[in-house]
Amino acid sequence: MIKPDAVAEGHTGAILKMIEEAGFRVVAMKKTQLTPERAGQFYAVHKERPFYNDLCDYMSSGAIVPMILEKENAVTDFRTLIGATNPANADEGTIRKLFAKSIEANAIHGSDSDENASIEGSFFFASTEQY
Ligand code: CMP
Repeated sequence: MIKPDAVAEGHTGAILKMIEEAGFRVVAMKKTQLTPERAGQFYAVHKERPFYNDLCDYMSSGAIVPMILEKENAVTDFRTLIGATNPANADEGTIRKLFAKSIEANAIHGSDSDENASIEGSFFFASTEQY
C-alpha cells in the first residue's frame, strides 16, 4: 500500500516502476481513501501502541494506492525492496530511503506474512478485482 504522503507528493508512478522492475506482478491496484475507522481496522494489531491514533489519522488523511502483488518469496523480497520502517535505518536504494518522510509517514506498507497478505488483500479487493 502506497501511503498518503507518497501519493500526495506524486511518487506513485516511481514506486510502481520500482516494484515492477523488482519482478513483482500487479494482481490488483486502485486509488482510494480510508476513513479513520477503516484505517483503525487495517492496523488493529497496533491498537495498544502509543502511535495508533496518530497512525489512523495519518492513514486517512489522503489517498492511498493499495495493491496485491505476486512473486516467489514476495513477502521477504518486498520487505527488502521497501526497507526499514524508520527511513533513517533504511538501506540506500530502498523505497523508504528514497521517499519516506518519517517513521510514521514512511511512504509504503508491506504485509509481514503470506497469511496477512491474504487478509490485507481481501480488505481492499473483491476476488473479481484480482487478475
Ligand atoms: P507499517 O509498516 O505500515 O506498519 C505500521 C505502521 O505504523 C508503520 O508502517 C508506520 O507508519 C507506523 N509506525 C510504526 N512505528 C511507529 C512509531 N514509533 N511512531 C509512529 N508511527 C509508527
